[in-house]
Amino acid sequence: MAPEPPTNIEGARQGGADERPFKVLLVDDEVAILESLELTLSEDYTVFAVDNGRDGVQILREEDIDLVIVDQVMPEMSGTEFLEKVIEHRPAAVRMMLTGYADINSIVRAINDGRIYRYIQKPWEPDELRLDVKRALENYRLNAENTELAAALAVANEKLRAENLFLRREVERQYSFDQIIGSSQAMQRVFDVMEKVAQTDATVLLSGETGTGKDMVARAVHYAGQRKDARFVAQNCGALPDTLLESELFGHKRGAFTGAHQDKKGLFEIADGGTIFLDEIGETEPGMQVRLLRVLQDGEIRPLGSSDSRKVDVRIIAATNKDLRAEVKEGRFREDLFYRLRVVELEIPPLRERREDIPTLAHHFLDITNEKMNRKLHGFTNAAMDRLTAHGWSGNVRELENEIQRAVALAGDEETISEVMLSEELRRAAPAASGEGISMPDERDLNLAVDILKRRMIEQAIEETGSKTRAAERLGIPRQSLQKMMKRLDMD
Ligand SMILES: Nc1ncnc2c1ncn2[C@@H]1O[C@H](COP(=O)(O)OP(=O)(O)OP(=O)(O)O)[C@@H](O)[C@H]1O
Ligand SMILES: [Mg+2]
Repeated sequence: MAPEPPTNIEGARQGGADERPFKVLLVDDEVAILESLELTLSEDYTVFAVDNGRDGVQILREEDIDLVIVDQVMPEMSGTEFLEKVIEHRPAAVRMMLTGYADINSIVRAINDGRIYRYIQKPWEPDELRLDVKRALENYRLNAENTELAAALAVANEKLRAENLFLRREVERQYSFDQIIGSSQAMQRVFDVMEKVAQTDATVLLSGETGTGKDMVARAVHYAGQRKDARFVAQNCGALPDTLLESELFGHKRGAFTGAHQDKKGLFEIADGGTIFLDEIGETEPGMQVRLLRVLQDGEIRPLGSSDSRKVDVRIIAATNKDLRAEVKEGRFREDLFYRLRVVELEIPPLRERREDIPTLAHHFLDITNEKMNRKLHGFTNAAMDRLTAHGWSGNVRELENEIQRAVALAGDEETISEVMLSEELRRAAPAASGEGISMPDERDLNLAVDILKRRMIEQAIEETGSKTRAAERLGIPRQSLQKMMKRLDMD
């Protein structure tokens, strides 16, 4: 009925019924009555007065009538019949009926049916009628406003729900398995375990050096499983002193310690139904280890300063870059907790043990960085890629990501990332290039293979020496030959 739902609540108020005078339609076959009604109401409203039902219907069609007063007894179309037309054309309009005698039964029936708002008994008192009409129209305006507001609210709610769903899907996409790069066997094994474990509630212990992707894997496992619509929360257990960590994880009652001004929910409660990621679990103190053990055993938490425990349903994924077994042996980590955590153990290998993933990862980060920094670098020179694959990457994937970001940020109008654009450390650490850094072409056709090799060697020599003259020197050919060769190989 509301034609165009307004886009916001402000919009719903504007153009409301209160901006224009209300339109009142009077229908009565007795002209004297018609005139006196008109006199009573025309000061406050726009009044249309007609002496028969047919003309009345015409006006209903043409005008936005807000209130109708009709005589009950008329020769052609009776008042009741006319009200049917009002309901048909202006269902929201207020309906009033004039009657010469009070037939209490028909009044009650009509009011109960919701067909009319009020009977006006002849003769009427003008002041009373004015007041009646005023009240009726006030009601009418409030109703109309409510309907508009409700429609606006429904639209706003729907929009919010859609946005919320969109954001959820966006987050799921961002943390989906296919954002994790790795075709090496080592990573394929990681994916296998992830896939299986995502469908369960089993506690997972992730281990791996810094920057290997533990965070990423934990999130992907959560968002691939049944718990994805509940929260994923992460806490670095090495970042806080014991009491603060306890209050973060388990919450506290007001007054539990100085500064605890009000009750606070812990992450375990916030993640109820979802997943909690306990990063750097190896950094926890003995007291915290006991409390974590209790959650794992009984699924119960107790807020600081509270005397009762609560049940929570939380999936735990823990991570460490320490060798937890060694920590257990040294007596720094509780053995029982270790076994509770490592129901499924997943070790993410360091990048140097899966070098075949480096080119794909490098291109992946190049794409992302291009997008972020609005650049259009195409790829890497062979020499640059050789350096990347040869590097030790003690900071693992994160270090590689940073390296690519740095190269893109510092690039001028280059189209590819070449060796000179890499950081000092990479250029220094890789094996000194004099042909060794160049890989054999895959090509079986001898001439083609030789061309590819020539192209790579020339490219590298120019890159490293910085000029064609010196490159020719290093390659042991005259400068002109180098130039001819480059032309034939379509280089430049
Ligand atoms: N296989 C991968 N594919 C794509 N990006 C990856 C991969 N592994 C790691 N990354 C990226 O590398 C960065 C570091 O990963 P992450 O934070 O998950 O490592 P971490 O193991 O948690 O490190 P830390 O132990 O230091 O906390 C992130 O930006 C992540 O997106
Ligand atoms: Mg991490």
